[in-house]
Amino acid sequence: MVEDCSLPSKDVNGAKSHKKYPMVLRTVVLVLVLISSVYICSICLKQKGIMIRSSVMRVKVMDEPCRNPSIEQSELPYIHFPKPTAYSRNECTCTPVRYFAILSMQRSGSGWFETLLNSHINISSNGEIFSVRERRSNISAIMATLDKVYNLDWYSSAAKNECTGAVGFKWMLNQGVMQNHEGIVEYFKRRGVAAIFLFRRNLLRRWVSLLANSHDRDAKQLNGTHKAHVHSRHEADVLAGYKPTIDVAQLMVDIEQTSKWSADAVQYFNGTRHVVLYYEDLVRNQTKVMDVLDFLRLPHRKLNSRHVKIHTRPLSYQIENWNVLSKSLKGTEFESFLQSDYQK
Ligand SMILES: *[C@@H]1O[C@H](CO)[C@@H](O)[C@H](O)[C@H]1NC(C)=O
Ligand SMILES: *[C@@H]1O[C@H](CO)[C@@H](O)[C@H](O)[C@H]1NC(C)=O
Ligand SMILES: *[C@@H]1O[C@H](CO)[C@@H](O)[C@H](O)[C@H]1NC(C)=O
Ligand SMILES: *[C@@H]1O[C@H](CO)[C@@H](O)[C@H](O)[C@H]1NC(C)=O
Ligand SMILES: *[C@@H]1O[C@H](CO)[C@@H](O)[C@H](O)[C@H]1NC(C)=O
Repeated sequence: MVEDCSLPSKDVNGAKSHKKYPMVLRTVVLVLVLISSVYICSICLKQKGIMIRSSVMRVKVMDEPCRNPSIEQSELPYIHFPKPTAYSRNECTCTPVRYFAILSMQRSGSGWFETLLNSHINISSNGEIFSVRERRSNISAIMATLDKVYNLDWYSSAAKNECTGAVGFKWMLNQGVMQNHEGIVEYFKRRGVAAIFLFRRNLLRRWVSLLANSHDRDAKQLNGTHKAHVHSRHEADVLAGYKPTIDVAQLMVDIEQTSKWSADAVQYFNGTRHVVLYYEDLVRNQTKVMDVLDFLRLPHRKLNSRHVKIHTRPLSYQIENWNVLSKSLKGTEFESFLQSDYQK
């Protein structure tokens, strides 16, 4: 069309006709040209309209089968129907998927907690994926990683792939969460990700666990390998055999820092759907674990973990300089940390 209209030879012809033909004929030709151009334009517009409408229809057709009227309106931002790039969800295409992240700190029971969740048929928690530095080097790298996990394109032994009902991972606050909290909170709100905070109440026990774990990293007490988590009582007893000497000043710095981080983190994520859990409560009370399944809107099931708790004895047996330490904590707000809190 464009070519026809702008050919210079036509212009030359047009100039000639100017002299030869009378006014009437020229007017008729002009009118014909006008009519035909209006006609062509209207066809063009109609075709465009059809194209726009058909693409709208296509999107609708693809989403339609996954509408589930039994899901409340308020839950809609939290359910998703991911379309993984590498495989098809098959018969579970329309099984809604919820997104979560376990936000915690080292030696707070999150390893145990995650294996507990993964024993549920509908949950895939993919481990500590941000322990790899490149994945958290900036907010774009973080978001790309999150996209992959929540699109069910992340491969880990925990992945239940096509039929998963809740997908997430474990994220330590010192793995880029605190530094990038603004972008992460924005992402969680935008994509309806639920935050599960898991903290430990007894920060003295956490400190003992940190020191023992750090000692084993060098000592490699289990046949020359370092283990952060164990699966037998025997292994647990070997690791618990180490009694750290506690520097009270260092302990105070850690308690202060840990308390501040947990409070700040909960504050940052206040505008997202979240729950705050304490390790001690989960260990003592199975109902609290079921509360987590309610939070994820998943059916109750008996959950289990192969993890065996390492430090089970009263702290007086597990700290080398117990007398000094207990004297310095007596009368402070941290005195309760000295009591054994697992024995029922
Ligand atoms: C973010 O980090 C990734 C991985 O380290 C890097 O490839 C990318 O260039 C970084 N992007 C920006 C905007 O800094
Ligand atoms: C849980 O998994 C089972 C088996 O894959 C599936 O039939 C069921 O619909 C799932 N439930 C939820 C809530 O995802
Ligand atoms: C070390 O390995 C031996 C033989 O494989 C095994 O019997 C023993 O229990 C292991 N010890 C520990 C502490 O895991
Ligand atoms: C979170 O926000 C609510 C109100 O929006 C407020 O009542 C609550 O104290 C906040 N919690 C924290 C931990 O900041
Ligand atoms: C266990 O947790 C449930 C719900 O979180 C609570 O109602 C109950 O009182 C707790 N039981 C004990 C013994 O603490």
